[in-house]
Amino acid sequence: MPATVVVGTQWGDEGKGKFTDLVAKEMEMVVRYQGGHNAGHTLVVDGETFALQLVPSGILYDHITPVIGNGVVVDPRVLLAEMDTLEAKGVDCSALKVSGNAHLIMPYHQELDALHERHLGDGKLGTTKRGIGPAYADKAMRLGLRVQDLQDPKIFRQKLDVVLGHTNQVLTKVFNRLPVDADEIAAQYLDECAPRVIPHIDDAIALVHNALETGQGVLLEGAQATFLDLDHGTYPFVTSSNPVAGGACTGAGVGPRDIGRIIGIAKAYITRVGSGPFPTELFDDIGDHLVDVGHEYGTNTGRRRRPGWFDAVMMRQAVRVNSLSEIALTKLDVLDALDSLQVCVAYDVNGTRVEQMPYHQSELHAATPIYEELPGWQTDISGVTSPDDLPANAADYIAFLEAQVGVPIRLVGVGPGREQFLDRVA
Ligand code: GDP
Ligand code: IMO
Ligand code: MG
Repeated sequence: MPATVVVGTQWGDEGKGKFTDLVAKEMEMVVRYQGGHNAGHTLVVDGETFALQLVPSGILYDHITPVIGNGVVVDPRVLLAEMDTLEAKGVDCSALKVSGNAHLIMPYHQELDALHERHLGDGKLGTTKRGIGPAYADKAMRLGLRVQDLQDPKIFRQKLDVVLGHTNQVLTKVFNRLPVDADEIAAQYLDECAPRVIPHIDDAIALVHNALETGQGVLLEGAQATFLDLDHGTYPFVTSSNPVAGGACTGAGVGPRDIGRIIGIAKAYITRVGSGPFPTELFDDIGDHLVDVGHEYGTNTGRRRRPGWFDAVMMRQAVRVNSLSEIALTKLDVLDALDSLQVCVAYDVNGTRVEQMPYHQSELHAATPIYEELPGWQTDISGVTSPDDLPANAADYIAFLEAQVGVPIRLVGVGPGREQFLDRVA
């Protein structure tokens, strides 16, 4: 059976965690394929909230093998803390596997992330300051340390000494900071973390392919989203990995023919955290309302998310670059109280109507949304369990988005709880 991908279609926080958990029920393995602890994936089960950063969203099921793929960047201190938090809540993490080929986030990556942001001043990206960019940069520079290096202290120290020969020059001479100490890092990573991480290190490629070959269900879980993608996002206001569905191939070690269903997760409106263009951004009371009702504050960083109307131009691009087979529309209930809704169907770019995402960033900055207005439903839909019971205006809103975007909207979220969803196909 080919694998299924869950991918964010906007600027993150669409509800990937909830829908990964939901779809994972029918699977045997969930693999995170990129990003690191910049992600915050929330699951609400029986009223209890779980905020996951590195651990795949299948962790709550006993029958699932959760795998951190080679495309992820792993801070072992954060991974262990997250596992401790989960274990304290009664979640068994013993089955968790971590690819030995995943790269490590080191303490100096985090420091460099903050220093780069400070250096950019007003032009800062608004990163999560978790060291994501510098860790992927070292990977590309071939200066990275990998999870498998935790298994061999001699190689770990050799590689660390090489990279610090370079990084300490940058820290002291470019940023006027103190050099970092190899012994301190080795004590933390090799003495404290390695003994607990090593039992989880595995050959993730073998695990994934054995699962695929024996007919098991494999779910490839993306973090971040299409417009935060290093190649396809609103560069430079992006993350440093490839969240798009293609990233699932490199980040989990499968070829395109191993993938079948590709589920794009889209919020019924949009949010963005950090800097960057956002054509449908709202600065008014309706924006505040969406933030309040949708609790639009970062799962881990606590930052207020910027709100805006649903943007069909972006979504058409997301359909293309991810080969989406369907969309899961989340947080429809957050729109419950509004008397009318706007959907961006095209952009006006310097007087020209544009229906596909402009490739040139200046055009995106100049884009004014062209909206179509739809009536709201002003009914609480959080308890609705069948699509047939949705108010007509809510059903029409979904159908309108579906027609605009061109792929079926199958799952619809009507609340944060695991059971609060509708399946329009079942
Ligand atoms: P992710 O990063 O894509 O996994 O999304 P986050 O977990 O960062 O943010 C999504 C937030 O919306 C979380 O607090 C979820 O519990 C919540 N959520 C997910 N789906 C729904 C939904 O359909 N309705 C409501 N009201 N909340 C939802
Ligand atoms: P999930 O998986 C929303 C944003 C940051 C910043 C940019 C670069 O929960 O959807 P980085 O630390 O990655 O170098 O920051 O990307 N960002 C996210 N925004 N959801 C996320 O993850 C994000 N991960 C990174 O705010 O603008
Ligand atoms: Mg999130």
